[in-house]
Amino acid sequence: MQPLIDPFARAITYLRVSVTDRCDFRCVYCMAEHMEFLPKKELLTLEELDRLCTAFVDLGVRKLRITGGEPLVRRNIMWFFERMGRHLQSGDLEELTLTTNGSQLRRFAQQLADVGVKRVNVSLDTLDEKKFAAITRWGRLAQVLDGVDAAQEAGLHVKINAVALKGTNDDEIFTLAEWCASRGMDLTFIEVMPMGDLGNEDRLDQYYALDQLRADLSARYTLTDIPYKTGGPARYMRVEETGQRIGFITPLTHNFCESCNRVRLTCTGQLYMCLGQDDDANLMRPLREHPGDDAPLHAAIREAITRKPKGHDFDYSRQRVEGEVARHMSVTGG
Ligand code: GTP
Ligand code: 5AD
Ligand code: SF4
Repeated sequence: MQPLIDPFARAITYLRVSVTDRCDFRCVYCMAEHMEFLPKKELLTLEELDRLCTAFVDLGVRKLRITGGEPLVRRNIMWFFERMGRHLQSGDLEELTLTTNGSQLRRFAQQLADVGVKRVNVSLDTLDEKKFAAITRWGRLAQVLDGVDAAQEAGLHVKINAVALKGTNDDEIFTLAEWCASRGMDLTFIEVMPMGDLGNEDRLDQYYALDQLRADLSARYTLTDIPYKTGGPARYMRVEETGQRIGFITPLTHNFCESCNRVRLTCTGQLYMCLGQDDDANLMRPLREHPGDDAPLHAAIREAITRKPKGHDFDYSRQRVEGEVARHMSVTGG
């Protein structure tokens, strides 16, 4: 079958799938405090998600990342991971992974490893209990740290994702780096993006440009660019003093859209062709209207890819927030 190629000659080989919009946390940059979640009947069933993801694998997707909300709070989610595991066994899929807040890893890490997951990305911005509670509103740090322990005990490689937040974790960059180095975990910093309809003007106050963060790290560390790639947008550096890798995801300071290889599927079957744009495609319809025939679904996916935009328009450079997107990050899980 023809691979998926977008209008800018980018091959689409990476699908991020949000399996639920729900989460047991309420991170300030991701959700409003009082969120209205989708009624259950609007969600795709796990069987439907299986069929949809399989269609993408048939069309050349090689990397599948499960996100949310928090993916591990969806009921029966291990059934879905097992189903996706069969694509790893057949060799059709190179990587099956997830981005999680870590709260449920104690319960699920071993099962994830058993189905073939090798790496997990855990979102953790601070090692300070009080700050953690303030950022996540509902989260408890100890539970996440225990989840990270469980993931490592199960043999999973853990990458910590920290959103760089001025006035919150800018005094913790060395603490985070040292903690990750001591545990053999990669660390990635992310620039805060203007998503969600509430308080986007806060982003300017929160924004800690990673150029600056990198310069701040250089006060103590020697950083060397390395060509390491995971298929995601991070650029990596090696810290010569510790030997660890630190990644930088820089939608604001260094646009990486040119090498974008990914699209995002929500738990209602909407396909977003870009994290930073509103255009989407309804894949629930061809899925439900043609239960025994994937051809219309394949056609709808191909049509959607012809609409993939060049990139996002996030911009803070004029001291105001531009290019923001009204949907919350929790709709697609990043
Ligand atoms: P690996 O490289 O496989 O470890 O994963 P990844 O970096 O692709 O996935 P992860 O879920 O760790 O992504 C981290 C964050 O990077 C996401 O939550 C988003 O905030 C951001 N990100 C990922 N892809 C994009 C993208 O296409 N555009 C923008 N603007 N941000 C992205
Ligand atoms: N800007 C940047 N990253 C965000 N995340 C959530 N909201 C934002 C935002 N507004 C990150 C989380 C997690 C991933 C799913 O996306 O911290 O690592
Ligand atoms: Fe939940 Fe992750 Fe959003 Fe935080 S960033 S509210 S943990 S989905």
